[in-house]
Amino acid sequence: MKYGYFDDNNKEYVITTPETPLPWINYLGSNEFFGLFSNTCGGYDFYKDAKLLRLTRYRYNNSPYDSNGRYYYINDGSDIWNVGWQPTQTPLDSYECHHGMGYSKIISSKNGIESTLLAFVPVHDNCEINQITLKNATDSNKEINFFSYIEFCLWNAEDDSTNFQRNFSTGEVEIEGSTIYHKTEYRERRNHFSFYHLNTEIDGFDTDRATFQGFYHGPANPDAVKAGHCSNSVAHGWSPIGSHHKKISLAPGESISLIFILGYCENPVEKKFIAPNVINKEPAHVIINKYGTDADVAAAYNELKEYWNGLLSVYTLTSDNEKLNRSVNIWNQYQCMVTFNMSRSASYFESGMGRGMGFRDSSQDLLGFVHLIPSRARERILDIANTQFPDGSAYHQYQPLTKTGNLGVGSGFNDDPLWLIAGTCAYIRETGDYSILEEMCEFDTGRAGVPAAPLFEHLRRSFKYNMDHKGPHKLPLIGRADWNDCLNLNCFSETPGESFQTTGPSEGPVAESVFIAGMYVKYGKEFRDLCQHIADIKSQSASELGNLPEVSELNRIIGVLDSEIEAMTEAVETAGWDGKWFVRAYDAYSNPIGSHTCEEGQIFIEPQGMCIMGGIGIENGKAETALASVKERLDSKYGIMLNQPAYTRYHVELGEISSYPPGYKENAGIFCHNNPWIACAEAAVGHGDRAYEIYTKTNPVFLEEIGEIHRTEPYAYCQMVAGADAPTFGEGKNSWLTGTAAWTFATVSQNILGIKPTYDGLSVDPCIPSTLGEYSVTRKYRGKTYNIHVSNPNHVEHGVKSISINGNTLPEGTLLLNPSADVMDVEVILG
Ligand code: BGC
Ligand code: NOJ
Repeated sequence: MKYGYFDDNNKEYVITTPETPLPWINYLGSNEFFGLFSNTCGGYDFYKDAKLLRLTRYRYNNSPYDSNGRYYYINDGSDIWNVGWQPTQTPLDSYECHHGMGYSKIISSKNGIESTLLAFVPVHDNCEINQITLKNATDSNKEINFFSYIEFCLWNAEDDSTNFQRNFSTGEVEIEGSTIYHKTEYRERRNHFSFYHLNTEIDGFDTDRATFQGFYHGPANPDAVKAGHCSNSVAHGWSPIGSHHKKISLAPGESISLIFILGYCENPVEKKFIAPNVINKEPAHVIINKYGTDADVAAAYNELKEYWNGLLSVYTLTSDNEKLNRSVNIWNQYQCMVTFNMSRSASYFESGMGRGMGFRDSSQDLLGFVHLIPSRARERILDIANTQFPDGSAYHQYQPLTKTGNLGVGSGFNDDPLWLIAGTCAYIRETGDYSILEEMCEFDTGRAGVPAAPLFEHLRRSFKYNMDHKGPHKLPLIGRADWNDCLNLNCFSETPGESFQTTGPSEGPVAESVFIAGMYVKYGKEFRDLCQHIADIKSQSASELGNLPEVSELNRIIGVLDSEIEAMTEAVETAGWDGKWFVRAYDAYSNPIGSHTCEEGQIFIEPQGMCIMGGIGIENGKAETALASVKERLDSKYGIMLNQPAYTRYHVELGEISSYPPGYKENAGIFCHNNPWIACAEAAVGHGDRAYEIYTKTNPVFLEEIGEIHRTEPYAYCQMVAGADAPTFGEGKNSWLTGTAAWTFATVSQNILGIKPTYDGLSVDPCIPSTLGEYSVTRKYRGKTYNIHVSNPNHVEHGVKSISINGNTLPEGTLLLNPSADVMDVEVILG
């Protein structure tokens, strides 16, 4: 069943009922100020950090599920409703929610009043604009009372939802005309405040929640809205809110527009006050004046649209496959921006208080983002590197505001360091900017007490960490866990409530990971190629990259990498090979996991994908054998499951994975993140049909028609789909913040459609479904535009027969290296 439709021309998804199976959300904001916005106006705003600087309150896991947002009420004398349906849930006469690139629009009507709510965060300011137009579509006069409502969060979201004995006495506001200022804790250590403004005179306001709602009522039936007026309440402690009341008369056909702004401001310490305890409101006035009229809002909205048109023009596919085009050109890239901005911090399933930025997560998010805004990717790489420990290991997470590692979870996830190599190499392949390797990065943001070192040295230490931490089978030690956070082989937890991620020693026993071994080979090779390129650059011009090791030292490093890669490949092909697939790991007793000898969990997806992506087994048939096993044992209607058979009981030696009921999350769920690894692996052995089949199975755009089963947004990947063992097989969970976005975009754009950035330029090597007869990709790359047309007259799955650039035939396999023209027409014929 569908709950809306795609409007590709406008790059929108149009939801046609407020009662979607779950809230279907959008993200407003692309730089530092963000809003989560559901199809019924739910969600919240924050500045930079969803935990530490949250502007508005949201109640997770409430009932109804989606509780709190920016709510707009209309009381026309006979009915009370919300333009976005929640929270009164009064049935509307018409309703549409358009989620677009960084904006959402809710168009609804009731009793002849038509409303349009446009919500977005302008590209350059720290505020959310809500422009509401109301039109009287009847032939008689309408007198209505209009109310706004938001609830302020006292900044630190965790403290806000726990420290009530203090917080109920600290809340403070100021009111100036039609602007409500929230200034809790401003009198002491904060120099920031927020404001909620309406661009016209008001007939009243409330800032005290209990006065607005009535103590025993809630947002669904507030007293003020029923009474038709506010009480001009000033919050002292308790729960400060912002509500404006405006009386509106509309003649037949007449419209009115209201512009609400929720903004965030900072003041220098010496300019905090203009009088005792009175905020200096200057920075708020600047924003308020900037967006005072409909023309101002229209200009900012157009700027946002142009911003997105520009970003999405870097990689554009034209094919006769509508769903493929829409996923590649619009929604997958859009989600890559969201995951880059949010990492795993704030969604409808991540509370914004927990995980902050993940070391491995943010590194992987770069893979799908580097082409969009390389300069921001550069900054992120350096931020991540700055948190690394001197021995090359890494904090598992860091806080976006402070950019320092989270002590609570600490370190010991032994795949983490290698992901820094993955992200950095992807950045350099995209940009050719080797200078990033010379940037000085701290260790543990300076807390380690050792001198900063160039990024290159950080990468070297990343590799060295795994080199120095191997187990009895010469495979990398797993530590607390590898990519699979729930395979906790050193944890042995028997006490309820203990964290599977931090209990037990991170090092000690001998548990090893074949998955990390695959990474070691894959990213070892990428690092080796990088070293080779640096050596080549330096040999040609001695003055370049002066901060990096000399050529002789680079050659020594290359030698070490070569022998390490070879030895690890050997270890994987022996101890890591089970006969028909790659083993997953060895536990603390050195027993294999993911082996036919196991009772449960005989085969896992992760090492099959990663080892083959690292090139292991491609020449000797092991790759094909492993992929056949994946198809036979892990595949399902809705995607490839993580492991089989699912664990049916708790295995203390395995940890969290066996705590999940079969079919959910890491225990035999379809973890969307590693499905593209198998698609890449299939592409590496030339199976275009199968790679594409895998790509479509978990792609939300292709699941739109089964919305009642899939339940999450048809325009965003979710982390997990319940596997075949689950009673709710096919149900999506945890949408938006998942490495799936980056990995699928990288896979479809580079490995399937085959346009791949390399250190030397773009290469074209498609591996596509044989049914795809032709397609074109426009790719902007290192300042040039490539219009690449691929034709597949013989309906093959892979193999470039000829390639020409601006009419000149190139020798087979040649990369598109430093061409002289700015715009190039590339003709590729497969066969
Ligand atoms: C989840 C994992 C997640 C981890 C993070 C676990 O409960 O299942 O997917 O990575 O928590 O702490
Ligand atoms: C979600 C986490 O964010 C990610 O880091 C991890 O790899 C997966 N879960 C699998 O456990």
